Amino acid sequence: MRNLKEIVPKIYSFAGMLMRKEKVAIDFGTSMARIAINKKGIVLREPAYVGYSTRSKEYLFHGKEAKEIFGKSPNFIDVIRPIEQGIISDFDAGVYLMNKLVQKSVLPYYQNIIFLRPIFEAYTAVPVSSTEVESRATQEVLERALFANVRLFEKPLAAAYGADQPIFSKDPTFVLDFGAGMVEMAVIIMGGIVGSKSLNLGGLHMDRILKNYLHLKYGIIIGDVTAEHIKEELLSFDGEKKVLTVRGKSLETGLPKSARVTSSDVQEALVSVINQIIDGVKELLETIPPEIVDGLVRRGAVLTGDLANIPGLDAYITRETKLPIIKANVPQDATIRGLAKLMSSTEDLTRIEIKSAS
Ligand SMILES: Nc1ncnc2c1ncn2[C@@H]1O[C@H](COP(=O)(O)OP(=O)(O)OP(=O)(O)O)[C@@H](O)[C@H]1O
Ligand SMILES: [Mg+2]
Repeated sequence: MRNLKEIVPKIYSFAGMLMRKEKVAIDFGTSMARIAINKKGIVLREPAYVGYSTRSKEYLFHGKEAKEIFGKSPNFIDVIRPIEQGIISDFDAGVYLMNKLVQKSVLPYYQNIIFLRPIFEAYTAVPVSSTEVESRATQEVLERALFANVRLFEKPLAAAYGADQPIFSKDPTFVLDFGAGMVEMAVIIMGGIVGSKSLNLGGLHMDRILKNYLHLKYGIIIGDVTAEHIKEELLSFDGEKKVLTVRGKSLETGLPKSARVTSSDVQEALVSVINQIIDGVKELLETIPPEIVDGLVRRGAVLTGDLANIPGLDAYITRETKLPIIKANVPQDATIRGLAKLMSSTEDLTRIEIKSAS
């Protein structure tokens, strides 16, 4: 009996030694989820949508497939985005989606390890503006989906780091992250945020404004996915002139109707949103101590998030704010790249601010 008491803890500690820890980076965005694995790079980019059947009370679709039926599904199927404005808005849908995504992108890499399935640790980011409760919701979704341990970082820190900015320097880094749910801007010094602003003016907000504009100008009703497509095709700040024939429904008759929408329509509809963001940049600069602003004006700001791909947006913001703006390389992947870089650098991890969720 005594022998057994001595042996059991030894077996456990031996098993513990054999348990490997695998790190996974997760950018659970409002419109896209992105996943990266240590040494493998980005292994998944998938729309963050799920389809739920109110009839059978189960989730039926996820990712690309769920987004494809958005606006086209029968009444008994709800297509949901589990993340709104960068935070979990539907817990169960979030767990379902994350579970599906890790099953197809992460677990296949560890399938042939029969006895020793590793312990998974998630590196993820939440908006600077998220409360402890909201951060904890993200943490719990990931724990329920797969992860034994979750490390949370502030999104602009991850985005700036992924855009190869010297975030640990004593000189300030200014990052503007333009996503679907949120526009977050932050000034970073020595691995911490010294000033930030979060605005609910991302790509989804722009889609709603564009829908209203087309409604008023052409009397046409269009769906969310069509509005997103028009914005991505036509919005430009470098004088591009394109035209798109858009199909929707007539406001008056309810019958099918089409309209020829131009780049200048989309610019006219959305320039006020961009200007509100620029006002946010100016307001943030006003709150930053003068010594830091001087460094910022010299170094400029880096633009991340998929909206950074709007042609000419960098030059437009430069013109309006007098700040040099550099678009990050593959701006839509900046956050996931930053998280992936962090998880592989023990030294930098000790120098970066961690978001608290408890
Ligand atoms: N060329 C483009 N022009 C305009 N908008 C674009 C373009 N390319 C992508 N977008 C928009 O960028 C948004 C997606 O950005 P991103 O993938 O960075 O968001 P996210 O990370 O899912 O959201 P968040 O970080 O806010 O939670 C969508 O609204 C999409 O329509
Ligand atoms: Mg994002």
